[in-house]
Amino acid sequence: MTVILGIESSCDDTSAAILKDGIVLSNIIASQKVHEAYGGVVPELASRAHQQNIIPVVDQALKKAGISMEEINAIAFTRGPGLLGSLLVGTSFAKGFAIARNLPMIEVNHLQAHILANFIKEPGVESRHPSFPFLTLLVSGGNSQLIVVHDYLKMEMIGQTIDDAAGEAFDKCAKVMGLGYPGGPVIDKLAREGNPERFTFNKPQIPGLDYSFSGLKTSFLYFIRDEIKKNPDFIRDNLNDLCASLQKTIVDILLSKLKKAAKQTGIKQIAIGGGVSANSGLQNAVHTEAAKSGWEVFIPRLGFSLDNAGMVAVTGYYKFLAGQFIRLDAVPFARTTLD
Ligand code: KG4
Repeated sequence: MTVILGIESSCDDTSAAILKDGIVLSNIIASQKVHEAYGGVVPELASRAHQQNIIPVVDQALKKAGISMEEINAIAFTRGPGLLGSLLVGTSFAKGFAIARNLPMIEVNHLQAHILANFIKEPGVESRHPSFPFLTLLVSGGNSQLIVVHDYLKMEMIGQTIDDAAGEAFDKCAKVMGLGYPGGPVIDKLAREGNPERFTFNKPQIPGLDYSFSGLKTSFLYFIRDEIKKNPDFIRDNLNDLCASLQKTIVDILLSKLKKAAKQTGIKQIAIGGGVSANSGLQNAVHTEAAKSGWEVFIPRLGFSLDNAGMVAVTGYYKFLAGQFIRLDAVPFARTTLD
């Protein structure tokens, strides 16, 4: 029997999960409402909230799984990338737990964890999983990457954003419209009642498989500023159409490189992960393309596509099986790639 405790604290969600023999028994997530007032994550406040949340979250994860501390064989924690102060809370907790119970520690790369979320199994839930190699579009508040996954622990980044991430584009444009944080889910909801063809925004012309979203954000800001000069109620009068048109632009940008990557690699198993994978416009576009191009599509369910410890525990499980442990003096890292 192998029991792993997974810990995630890379940004503004404190999460703990228990995995037993490859099955995720619990996945507790404490989100931090404190950032809403600021229109984005405030790193110092995030660290403080993690400190308050981490013990209750681990306690709940153990209780929900019906597992005692004595049964845990290893502790897996997100080492990076992310906000350093946030990562330090999870890393320090993992070290304290490992020392107290004399357990091995497993470091987990946050990006790899988002990808391996596609392999999460839950008790009594039938799930489909991709086979290797598969192509992943990883899109969150901090990442927009295209990755070929050769094996659980062997991944190759073939494209990435050269500036902002797709989630950042959603969040920053939402802020321009006064929609609060995180803006992605709000735009998604409002876009359902809007006309996606009403407004057009510039799309980047970046060669290869890389993305860029900073130009879109700026052109959106300037467009709104100009329109408000003519009609101070422009945002309110056109909110649904603005959201639908912006969402369509972001989805078109994401889809065009995903299609290119699928063509170049010849891979038809396509996974999408990260917070933005919850976007209904993106999901519809990927499914429509799948029907045309014969792709098989994999999207983790919502609880496992946003930041969560279930994906950390499952990554920890494969590293445990491969004997990949880390020393107690490991420090977190704010930035890294998959290599
Ligand atoms: O993976 P995640 O929970 O955290 C990290 O960034 O690591 O992703 C959060 C991002 C935010 O930018 C949020 O606005 C975006 O995912 N997001 C969405 C949706 N749900 C979350 N963006 C568009 N549509 C959604 N439904």
